[in-house]
Amino acid sequence: METGLLHLHNILRWVILLLLFIAFFQALGKKAAIRGTSLWLMISAHIMFLIGIYQLIAGRFGITKGLPEGVELMKDSFYRFYWIEHPLGMLIAIILITIGRRKSKALNYKAASWLYVIALILILASVPWPFREIVGRPWFPGL
Ligand code: HEM
Repeated sequence: METGLLHLHNILRWVILLLLFIAFFQALGKKAAIRGTSLWLMISAHIMFLIGIYQLIAGRFGITKGLPEGVELMKDSFYRFYWIEHPLGMLIAIILITIGRRKSKALNYKAASWLYVIALILILASVPWPFREIVGRPWFPGL
């Protein structure tokens, strides 16, 4: 189950990025279809949050497994990323996506476009892209 969840966590990132792009451009183009996009975006982001929390607590490098001997959290870039930077950056992005949903539903395009562009930047900065040293992970599950 754990591998399945990790794979889902990996692949859902693309769904979220795609929906975020679409919602952002719909906000710029003042398209009422943003109502549907923003709902699916919020649902995907909340699922991601739940899987993330599970991984953070019980995953391979989860908190319940503890830090390896001699590792200090804030001095270790791997654990600092997976226990603090990644969850915190993504949590803020998911909150913005949630507020963005409310604004999109009310067809408040200006607010939605700002919320979505900030969420997009936060997510792009917090994903463990394959080219990132130490924390890098595959583009797609199992690669
Ligand atoms: C939009 C939200 C998020 C995106 C786009 C995202 C993206 C990713 C990606 C691409 C990976 C690498 C997966 C792989 O190795 O195949 C990952 C791993 C991880 N994420 Fe997230 N994540 C999000 C939210 C969260 C949240 C909210 C948490 C925690 C509360 C979290 C905790 C983790 C942990 C602990 C790992 C490492 C899991 C492991 O290697 O066993 N993620 N995330």
